[in-house]
Amino acid sequence: MRPSFLTSTLCFALTTRTIARPTPEPWDLGQLWKDVKETASNIISGLTSSIVKPGCDANRLNDINYFAEYAAAAYCAPNHVVGTEVRCPDNICPTVTQRRVHTIMTFNEGKTDTTGIIARDDDAKYIVVTFRGSRSFKNWITNIALILIPAPAFCKDCKIHKGFYEAYQEVQPRIQAAVEKLVKQYPGYRIVTTGHSLGGALATIAAVDLRKRWKVESYTYGSPRIGNAALSFFITSSTSGSNYRITHLDDPVPRLPLLVQGYTHVSPEYHIFRGDHNIRPQDVNIVEGLVNFKGNTAADGIVSLNISAHLRYLGRPGTLMTGCAKGLFEL
Ligand SMILES: *[C@@H]1O[C@H](CO)[C@@H](O)[C@H](O)[C@H]1NC(C)=O
Repeated sequence: MRPSFLTSTLCFALTTRTIARPTPEPWDLGQLWKDVKETASNIISGLTSSIVKPGCDANRLNDINYFAEYAAAAYCAPNHVVGTEVRCPDNICPTVTQRRVHTIMTFNEGKTDTTGIIARDDDAKYIVVTFRGSRSFKNWITNIALILIPAPAFCKDCKIHKGFYEAYQEVQPRIQAAVEKLVKQYPGYRIVTTGHSLGGALATIAAVDLRKRWKVESYTYGSPRIGNAALSFFITSSTSGSNYRITHLDDPVPRLPLLVQGYTHVSPEYHIFRGDHNIRPQDVNIVEGLVNFKGNTAADGIVSLNISAHLRYLGRPGTLMTGCAKGLFEL
């Protein structure tokens, strides 16, 4: 097939698709609010159990800060070269830069644009799989496909976000192979998956998948919901590694896809409820429950437009989680 033919076929396909399925309004707040009100009472009576533990252990907060640097570093992904030390411009990942952390592999799959790095931290002895969030925030949030598909590979009744799952599956064989090789070469290193936003969703899925063979911890920042209650429960009750799901103020992304669309969250949630940077242990609440209205999904504000809260997660004052993508990142 000649390239020109291919190109025109592709253009045609894209055009038809656009005409057939117009992009929905990203924030039809009126409708969302109506849906939420109609079913909120069912959800509240069925699934909520919000246990709030004020304050976060100082060592835990150190780790939360540390893996946030990796999540931020993933936005500089094209700059990372296999074999070299992981570094970020503008002092975005100072601790990672200080420690001996090497890029082992980078991945960037064309079809779904699933991008990230696998790094080996020889000082703290970690194997870290980091996923980058989407560079086109609006595009991603607008096209967030809500379809839940069965995921029997995880549990019988598990259902997962189709788009996130497919994006992960595209890179799964390469990640699995790289981790396997590293585990053999560096026994005793702990495995961590991390990522911000869309990257957080992928990091959660990677953790579930890799836990079939290894113990894996996951640190996610501003992750959307990824599946139904069965999947959330399965991940939450894992005995092969803990989940640290970090949210910030009224960040809109962890409130999506909506509860009424059949999604719940992994528990517990580490909700940073005060400030953007220099976060102290007392600025964090640990909130339990697959559905809770005591953390980011506050009962009085199920819909939020605070993009600023989504972009500011820990890091140095003035820096954004996406700071490394610079002009490449569009809202
Ligand atoms: C929105 O986010 C910004 C930046 O993180 C924060 O300063 C502000 O207080 C937030 N607004 C609300 C209403 O929470």
